[in-house]
Amino acid sequence: MVESKGWDWNNVPESEKKIWIEPSIESYYLLDRWTKKGYHDFLDLGCGMGRHSIQFAKAGFNVYAFDLMDDAVDHTLEWAKKEGLTIHGKTGDMLALPFEDSSFDSIFCRNVIQHTDTEGVKKAVSEIHRVLRKGGECYLSLASKSTHGFKNTDWPLIDPNTKICMNEGPEYGVPHYFADYDGIYELMKDFTVETVYHVENFYEQFGHGHSSYHYHVLISK
Ligand SMILES: C[S@@+](CC[C@H](N)C(=O)[O-])C[C@H]1O[C@@H](n2cnc3c(N)ncnc32)[C@H](O)[C@@H]1O
Repeated sequence: MVESKGWDWNNVPESEKKIWIEPSIESYYLLDRWTKKGYHDFLDLGCGMGRHSIQFAKAGFNVYAFDLMDDAVDHTLEWAKKEGLTIHGKTGDMLALPFEDSSFDSIFCRNVIQHTDTEGVKKAVSEIHRVLRKGGECYLSLASKSTHGFKNTDWPLIDPNTKICMNEGPEYGVPHYFADYDGIYELMKDFTVETVYHVENFYEQFGHGHSSYHYHVLISK
């Protein structure tokens, strides 16, 4: 398995910082869905700057903010303190989650488990299965094989699904696993797949028409 490497959050350009502070579009739907289901114990797996930890803590969830990088967890906890919110912070690796079995009824994991290789993704999914309660749900997203990074010949291929990002910035040297539709169902075979969306996002800041594709997956146990 490739060595885990998190994001260098000090290397995010000023112009892109606001992206990581505003909750993502799908988080609003999940907040509503998971509130109606009565879920309470929420894991922000790969919390980054903490935008979803803050959002769910404000709504009364018992939030655990988890990331490989101390900077990410520290930023989330400092933000929570300013907001007067209690959030539990933990640094560690998604390949060996430091939580008991069946700890959470809701897991939010946006663009995180893709940061490893084929074996690593399988391990991360099995860890999610272990810490998710029966009846709970997990949302996760994965980079798609249709996206530019998978076609980029400057990024070395380390297994048939995985490349190393060579773009300057926070993701330099970070492994990227790229998924396809059949592979998603194979990966999620121990879960019920609720929904799968294949979404193209456009990023004007990288040039007109620049886009990337991700799978957005909602699974239940
Ligand atoms: C693209 S950012 C997404 C952050 C957050 N989910 C969001 O949507 O704002 C990916 C995050 O996953 C973290 N990460 C990467 N590999 C990880 C690993 N092996 N274990 C835990 N976190 C990891 C990175 O450090 C980074 O904070």
